[in-house]
Order: sequence, then structure tokens, then C-alpha cells
Amino acid sequence: MTRSCGLGLLLVLVLPVVSASRPGAVVRLNKAVLSYVSEIGRAPLQQALRVTVPYFLDRNGEVIQPSRIQILSVSVPHLRLKLIAGLGVHLAAEANFTFQVFRAPEPLELMLPVVLLADARVAQGSIGTPVVSISACLSLFGDAILFDGSNSTAPALLVPVQKHIKAVLRDKVCLSISNLVQDLNVHLGTLVGLNPVGPESQIRYSMINAPNITNDYISLDINAVLFLLGKPIVLPGDATPFRLPEHVGRDGAMATVGLSLDLFDSAFLLLQKAGSLNLDITGQLKSDDNPLNTSMLGQHIPEVARQFPEPMPVVLKVRLSATPTATLHADTATLRLQPFVEVLAVASNSAFQSLFSLDLAVNLTLKFSVSKVKLQGNTTVLGDIQHTVAASNVGFIDTNQMHMLMGSLFEKPLLDHLNALLGIGVALPNILNLHYASPEVFVYEGYVVISSRLFFQR
Ligand SMILES: *[C@@H]1O[C@H](CO)[C@@H](O)[C@H](O)[C@H]1NC(C)=O
Ligand SMILES: *[C@@H]1O[C@H](CO)[C@@H](O)[C@H](O)[C@H]1NC(C)=O
Ligand SMILES: *[C@@H]1O[C@H](CO)[C@@H](O)[C@H](O)[C@H]1NC(C)=O
Ligand SMILES: *[C@@H]1O[C@H](CO)[C@@H](O)[C@H](O)[C@H]1NC(C)=O
Ligand SMILES: *[C@@H]1O[C@H](CO)[C@@H](O)[C@H](O)[C@H]1NC(C)=O
Ligand SMILES: *[C@@H]1O[C@H](CO)[C@@H](O)[C@H](O)[C@H]1NC(C)=O
Repeated sequence: MTRSCGLGLLLVLVLPVVSASRPGAVVRLNKAVLSYVSEIGRAPLQQALRVTVPYFLDRNGEVIQPSRIQILSVSVPHLRLKLIAGLGVHLAAEANFTFQVFRAPEPLELMLPVVLLADARVAQGSIGTPVVSISACLSLFGDAILFDGSNSTAPALLVPVQKHIKAVLRDKVCLSISNLVQDLNVHLGTLVGLNPVGPESQIRYSMINAPNITNDYISLDINAVLFLLGKPIVLPGDATPFRLPEHVGRDGAMATVGLSLDLFDSAFLLLQKAGSLNLDITGQLKSDDNPLNTSMLGQHIPEVARQFPEPMPVVLKVRLSATPTATLHADTATLRLQPFVEVLAVASNSAFQSLFSLDLAVNLTLKFSVSKVKLQGNTTVLGDIQHTVAASNVGFIDTNQMHMLMGSLFEKPLLDHLNALLGIGVALPNILNLHYASPEVFVYEGYVVISSRLFFQR
């Protein structure tokens, strides 16, 4: 864990600093996450509280008698976490420490109830990670209870032993809690790691300002930067800060993650710059997959029939010169693509010969889903594919006929390609071993919200 965090840190330092505070995302951790954290946090807390207790020196007799003291177990039957507006999280725990005091003639076993109270401040760290620190910590001790079997001579010793134990715990318990929080910080630090998007591209999230903490949630403003070959993708135009309204997504969700339209625009700009959206639809002769060949085209375009008396394979080169534009309206996400399609035939000398080219425009419905920590997309064609002839080397082209032809030839390979690409998905803000569980995706005017439970995989 420490190693991966160190690597993340290194990459952060090496990568160019992107000053623009876009595109934006907001991660809101709601009250519900605290009951989950208190559930999964009990075991590590119990472990952390098993401190070592130095020997107790019994000064009552003639000679000073050292007694070894060992914590047999720590149980934390109650752990409660509560948000403190403007600060962070309040922790209240009831713990029972069971000690064994090794003394002649028989060991003494006693239980000490302790109430732990701590305030943890949640702030922004220097490299854009959330950082938790203990700002106040207090342990309140009850009276030790001797376990049955210990006999009446014991209480005399109980008073000084108890004093000794309490003095030790008073020092060590808060330190243990601080150490536990440091481990948590190492974990939270993985938020800024680079997550691969494609073979040559990554996304990196970081906090851009102090968290906004209310009695109901901790809200983190997150900056997402996409990188292609180590260079940040920068959107043209002015930055629009992203604000996530309250009460969006599912009520009672542990996490509410808002993603701005800018983030989607960046992702599509990256795909376009990387050339990932381009594809070649290659027709084989006698193929059911792509039945397009020169003899078929020749039935609609006489010049093609004249130039290619023998049927030859035809290739569609699909290039996205314009960046796809995503539109987010209440409950609907659409994607507009404007591919440029060049139709080529394989000439008899096996060189490609350009027949004609088309400017297409297609609207797609975009559906989102979340798998583990990734947001994935899937598209279906919405309405008609529009065509205009951009250039022709084969004379007049009847666009109506092209329309029917292209619709069937172009649509399926394009969707297959696009859906395979969007199915890879983009990592959502995440930290190591933390997954989104039963996520739901909501589309709002200008942004997308993911409501999810969180699941920590140990
Ligand atoms: C632990 O302490 C609580 C009070 O804090 C008490 O109610 C409970 O019985 C104790 N549990 C054990 C196992 O001793
Ligand atoms: C109580 O202590 C005495 C002296 O230390 C010992 O002889 C006796 O066995 C003890 N009784 C019990 C029930 O442990
Ligand atoms: C925190 O959120 C509340 C509620 O939306 C808002 O009124 C307040 O201005 C926010 N504070 C900061 C510092 O962003
Ligand atoms: C050319 O395309 C037509 C129409 O799809 C098909 O019937 C014919 O078999 C194809 N010819 C060759 C040689 O593939
Ligand atoms: C795509 O949607 C836009 C906006 O709704 C509309 O203007 C355009 O005509 C549509 N294009 C196609 C090809 O359906
Ligand atoms: C994605 O959309 C295509 C249609 O465009 C559909 O056939 C396919 O089942 C969808 N896949 C998922 C995972 O929804």
C-alpha cells in the first residue's frame, strides 16, 4: 500500500501541473457512510488499542516486585461516528480492555471499561488528497472489575495496578488512534494515483479545495485531469466551476458522486485525439458481415460499374475530425458524432482508390453503468443518420440510395466499435480497495450523478 502510494506521489510530481480547475467532479460522502466505517473500523480499532503495558512495580512490600501486565483482549462493543459541521468526524467508542496481571501465586484477570472520545479534522493535503488528523482525544476510565476466581486478597493490589494501567492507557490510546488515522491517510492518498483509461491515457483526480463539511455530508471538490501520452487534455474555452446541488441521486446513499459535462467532454476529446474513435470497415468478398462491394455499388453508381467490371472489395474509412459532443438533459444523455467517411475500392493493382466521401451526422443515446470503480457507457442510434456527399470521383451520387446503404453497412460496426470502447470505462474517483456497490446512475441537466454504497475489500 505504501509503495503504490509512493509511486502515485512520484507521478504527481513528475506530471505537468495543470492549473485550470476543470473538469470538475464532486464526491459527497453522506452520513450513511459513517455507520459503514464504524462497522468495518471496529476490528482495526480493537487491534490498534492492544498496546503494550510496562511492568507494574509493587512498592508495598519490603522488596519491589515487578509484575508483568498483558492485554488479553480489547473489545469495542460500541463505535459511533458523527459528522461535525466545519470540522470533520466525532468518534465515540466504548471499549473493554481485559488485562492479565502476572503475580504470585496466581495471575489476576481484570476488565477495564474505557470510553474514547476523539475529534478528527478532515482537510485537504498538500498534494490534493483528503487528510484526517486527530484534533482532540480523551479517554474516560470506568472502574476495573476483577474476574471471578481472583480472591479477596486481590483488591489491595487492584488500586495501584489500576492506577498504573490508566496512566499508561491515557498516554497510549490517543497515540494509537492517531496512528490508525495515519494508516487511513496513506490509504486516502491513493485518490491521486493515475488510473489507466486506455493504453496511452490516464485519469488523475485530486482535491482542489478544503472539504465542505455539514452535519449531513463531507463534500470534496475534485479536479479530474485526463492525460494522453503524458500530456493533459485541456478543453477550449473558459472554465465553469462545477457545483453539485443538494438532494440529488438516491436518498440515503453512502456516496453521491457528481460528474460535470466538462469531464465527459474531456473524455471524448481524449478519445478523438487518441484516434480511438476512428475505424476501418473492411469488406471481404462473399462476406455476410459487410456485403458491400463494387458490383453492388455499381448498381447505384454507373461510374463505379464502369470502372470495376469485376467485383472488388470496398473499404469504409471512418474518421472523427470533429470532437463528439455529449449533451446531458434530465434523464437523457446523448452523443453527437460527425464522422467523415471515405469510401475506397481495392483497384486491380491492389492499391486503394477513393470513390467518394461523405459527411455523416449521427445522434446516439448514451446509457451509463458502473462496474467496480469504472463508469461505462453504451450507445444506440437515435433517429436517422444524416449524409451529405463531401467529394466524389465517380460522378453523381443519389444521397437517398446512399442513405439506405450506409444505414445498414455503417451503423452496426460503428456501434460495436464505440460500445467496445465505452465499455472499457473510465475510473471514477476511488481509493485503493474501495469499490462502488449497487450503484445507480442519474442524468441531470449538465451533469451525471452516481449514487452508491461503498464496499471496502480487505
Ligand atoms: C463491556 O463494557 C460494556 C460497558 O461499556 C458492558 O455493558 C459490557 O457488558 C462489557 N462487555 C464485556 C464482554 O465485558
Ligand atoms: C485465594 O488466595 C489464597 C492466597 O493467595 C490462595 O491460597 C487461595 O487458593 C485463593 N483462593 C481462590 C479461590 O483462588
Ligand atoms: C458548504 O455547503 C453549504 C450547503 O450547500 C453551502 O451553503 C456553503 O456555502 C458551502 N461552503 C463552502 C465553503 O463551500
Ligand atoms: C457483392 O455484393 C452483393 C450484394 O451484397 C452480393 O450479393 C454479391 O455476392 C457480392 N459479390 C461478391 C463477389 O462478393
Ligand atoms: C441530432 O440532435 C440535434 C439536437 O437535438 C438535432 O439538431 C439534429 O438534427 C440531430 N441529428 C440527427 C442526425 O438526428
Ligand atoms: C449496448 O447497446 C447495444 C445496441 O446499441 C445493445 O445491443 C447491447 O445489448 C447494449 N449492451 C449493454 C451492455 O447494454
